[in-house]
Amino acid sequence: MKKRIFGNWKMNGSLASNAALLDALAQGVQAGACDVAVCAPAPYLAQLQAVLAGSAIGIGAQDLSAHTEGAYTGEVSGAMLREFGVRYVLVGHSERRQYHAESDELVARKAQAALACGITPVVCVGETLAQREAGETEAVVRRQLAAVVQVNGHCLSEIVLAYEPVWAIGTGKTATPAQAQAVHAVLRAQLLAATTAAGRIPVLYGGSMNASNASELLSQMDIDGGLVGGASLKAADFLRIVACAQ
Ligand code: 13P
Repeated sequence: MKKRIFGNWKMNGSLASNAALLDALAQGVQAGACDVAVCAPAPYLAQLQAVLAGSAIGIGAQDLSAHTEGAYTGEVSGAMLREFGVRYVLVGHSERRQYHAESDELVARKAQAALACGITPVVCVGETLAQREAGETEAVVRRQLAAVVQVNGHCLSEIVLAYEPVWAIGTGKTATPAQAQAVHAVLRAQLLAATTAAGRIPVLYGGSMNASNASELLSQMDIDGGLVGGASLKAADFLRIVACAQ
């Protein structure tokens, strides 16, 4: 399967800093062996649409509403994202689950809302350190994925899945390739049980991925790409990770 390297800028950037980063990325990423996208804060999507037009880099958002339109102050719908050329949207990132109390069910409905608009949801799952230490990793990620399977059964093969252990996010503590592979194998088995098209679903790893550890992580059998936070904010670092996926 073609590898995918997606950047998640989180709540970082400015028009000026984005312009420099996007120029460098647009020049450094060629269409080919690996699919590359950046997930930017909503106010910058118009900038991405303008700068990345004709480039090999896909546009991603970081969240969307589960609703289609109406009295939902502050929310952004999938149809709105589509108008800015958005092809991917993160759903269920651990920072949304943790700071915005997003439940498994809401995440599943957000994935459904994205699919209904022709946007690929990048469904994030992952355990906290306490859950890992309590031996609950497998149960937690299986439960998070099960909610998405239940709501999106017939379109499941259109999603991208990302395993992001919460304890590895922004901490510099990467899961070892073996730790990550073990969870990816669990998720792959769950997908295979849910759909005959499971082979089409990429499962990305995220959590302190950088230019030094990317190659080994990406060489694991069930790791189909990376979801990169901090290292996606520096063009040179992100491009080195992209190079590891080619
Ligand atoms: P870091 O790469 O900064 O650990 O962030 C990972 C992440 O949360 C990507 O969505």
